[in-house]
Amino acid sequence: MDGRDLVHSVRTVGFVGAAQGLRTVRAAWRRRRADAAGLPPRGAERARVPGQVREVTPGPGGGVLRFSRSELQVTVAVNGAVFWGWDGAAPEPSYALAGRCPEPDPRAVLEPDKDGGWRVVAERVTVVVSRNGAVEVRTPGGVTLRRDSPPRWWEPVGGGRARWMQRSEVSSDARFFGLGGRSSGPRLRDGAYRLWNTDPGRAFAPGDDPLYITMPVQLVVADAGTHLVFHDTSWDGTVALREGEEGAGSGHDRAGMCETRMEGGPLRCWVIVGTPARVLLTWASLTGAPALPPAWALGHHHARWGFGSEQEVRRIVAGYRERGLPLDAVHLDIDHYDGHQVFTVDRDRFPKLPALAEELRRDGIRLVSIVDCAVKAEPGNEVYDSGTAHDAFVRDASGQPVRGVVWPGEVVYPDFTHARVRTWWGGLYEERLTQGFSGFWHDMNEPTSFAAFGEPTLPRSARHGLEERGGDHREAHNVYGLCMARAGYEGLRELSPRHRPFLFSRSGWVGMQRFGGTWSGDVATGWPGLRASLSLVMGLGLCGVPYSGPDVGGFDGSPSPELYLRWFQLGAYLPLFRTHASLRAGRREPWEFGAEVLQHARVALVERRRLLPYFMTLAHLARRTGAPYVRPVWWGSPEDRALRDCEDAFLLGDCLLVAPVLDPGTDRRAVQLPRGLWYDTATEQAYEGPAQVLVDAPLARIPVLARAGAVIPTRGADGGLELEVWAPARGRTGAGLVVPDAGDGWEEPEVERYVSRWAGSRVVVEREGGGGEPPHPVRVRGLGER
Ligand code: NOJ
Repeated sequence: MDGRDLVHSVRTVGFVGAAQGLRTVRAAWRRRRADAAGLPPRGAERARVPGQVREVTPGPGGGVLRFSRSELQVTVAVNGAVFWGWDGAAPEPSYALAGRCPEPDPRAVLEPDKDGGWRVVAERVTVVVSRNGAVEVRTPGGVTLRRDSPPRWWEPVGGGRARWMQRSEVSSDARFFGLGGRSSGPRLRDGAYRLWNTDPGRAFAPGDDPLYITMPVQLVVADAGTHLVFHDTSWDGTVALREGEEGAGSGHDRAGMCETRMEGGPLRCWVIVGTPARVLLTWASLTGAPALPPAWALGHHHARWGFGSEQEVRRIVAGYRERGLPLDAVHLDIDHYDGHQVFTVDRDRFPKLPALAEELRRDGIRLVSIVDCAVKAEPGNEVYDSGTAHDAFVRDASGQPVRGVVWPGEVVYPDFTHARVRTWWGGLYEERLTQGFSGFWHDMNEPTSFAAFGEPTLPRSARHGLEERGGDHREAHNVYGLCMARAGYEGLRELSPRHRPFLFSRSGWVGMQRFGGTWSGDVATGWPGLRASLSLVMGLGLCGVPYSGPDVGGFDGSPSPELYLRWFQLGAYLPLFRTHASLRAGRREPWEFGAEVLQHARVALVERRRLLPYFMTLAHLARRTGAPYVRPVWWGSPEDRALRDCEDAFLLGDCLLVAPVLDPGTDRRAVQLPRGLWYDTATEQAYEGPAQVLVDAPLARIPVLARAGAVIPTRGADGGLELEVWAPARGRTGAGLVVPDAGDGWEEPEVERYVSRWAGSRVVVEREGGGGEPPHPVRVRGLGER
């Protein structure tokens, strides 16, 4: 047990009491014993590299290269993504892919290169394989974006699973992003990033790593181009990054380095090259379109661990109503369960939940339920009995159900890597729908088991179905949350086919966006936590998960009024806008921080509501194009190095640039602008980019800038759609998209495309392609002096 374990166990015991504390000690010992008995000893290992190329077989989209000690399949797919797999690794089966692997591009062929190497030339990328197995990814213009050295495997002498290592070089100016939800990003600096979904067991701050969602996905942005690389294996691993350095004067450049080490699993990867928008489009075509949240889920959510009773929920809702604060959803945490058992209700404190849900719904407020994955291991508990009858729970190597410890005490874990278990679990949401819940919040699904020492999860030797292939927790761990999300999503589609499911999940993996979003987990209350919460949203967006947001105010403790307000103002521009806090944290209602905070929080809430049609449009665009709502400022100009290094602002879609306040005592801040003309939306003052400008950031608001020419769908005073148009720069035009959708069904509203332009001294807006005037009122802004 190290110091961190001790802190973890003390905190856990603090939350759950002494009896539970003892259980966590027993659980940790059980885990150790299970692994000692259930995993083969590692023993002596032999290292291997591919050796020299011997033979080549061209095939559709590329071909197979046989080396003396391995073989490599390279295939360019029709969507432009490149796949390569060593040792016979094929793209399927894969938890990441949305469907079947895309067809090969018949135009891409394997042909000889110089020095005995081979290459595949495709429209957007050239892949060159050297005679000893180094793989280079080049732009069509021939500039190298990434160079993988020949990989290295270590295999047990007695046979068995190999570990592997892949070292890669990128250019000296390249910046790394992604790897799932990381607290100290979005730019990933030098360090080792572990790939093992983890509940940190306490509120986290920048530097705490890994967290709940890790992904072997990197987006690398350099002067020469942007590429995404995904190592498709769910095993435990580490990615070590070191940014390069450009030689000063006559000195040499030092390349950027990336070393990926995996404890097992296939060595196979996908690479996508192009502009950031093109890369994310291809990524979404590979791993799946993000689920579309219902319109209400883009409003404001209020959560709390420990509402305690129906009366308390009513009191909070009335508090919002009486103060004229928009509210769209209320989340119930585990304290509304009976004995902390998922799919139950404490009838003493929540006697008429369906009536409460109905009452709230009449006021336009939805109820969202937490759904924990672990099931109290107690005969008589209906979910346990039903799961036992379905043989649904994870077993250890000796065939006994694996037991862990979570909120209800001793628990067992559904094995979501079995299709039949997902079906069983998906059916359980019927009880939630009957209680009146409209949305679902998956929790503790790393999966977590409290442990006084060692890892807070299941034993690595625990057995899993893995879609009938069979395997153990070393392979299943990272996809556990993803498979639970799939179970929930598919169950809800069956149970409530007319409504788009709304779910978000603490843990997940590549492709989780198909089933919903996530939130930033238990972020520590403090200014560093505020910064971390933005890092997570941006990093996840670049990995293909566009819907997320933090616990506004932080999970633990009590934020100062200023910190709460700044968090609230940031949250108002993030896809999931939710206040939430721990059982023992201070209050998080906007009126708990004094009159001034309340006044400014109201402005943020009203503005969020006004922008709902824009958020809905961004949600549709994310589904159709893979582009996250929240984008780094370099999204449209990745070659701009100053933008690449800017981590404290973001683009919200194409139209807005949001510059949150992340430090105390700020009333003015620097903003790095991409090229073009930008208006401060509060003052209408115009700024010309690219430039760094100083803008006012009084307590009343955070700076939000609008791109000149932008056409933004907003909600007008009468609740109808209104177009807010920002005057284009003189002699220029602008544009904007609108997807009119205010519902939660499956109809596909058509995308309306608008252009804005000057007509003499007036700004006019019309349908693209000469389609005439928009059917919505138009409000032009930014016409003042410039
Ligand atoms: C951990 C979650 O991260 C947090 O949001 C929740 O309040 C607690 N579990 C209790 O359910």
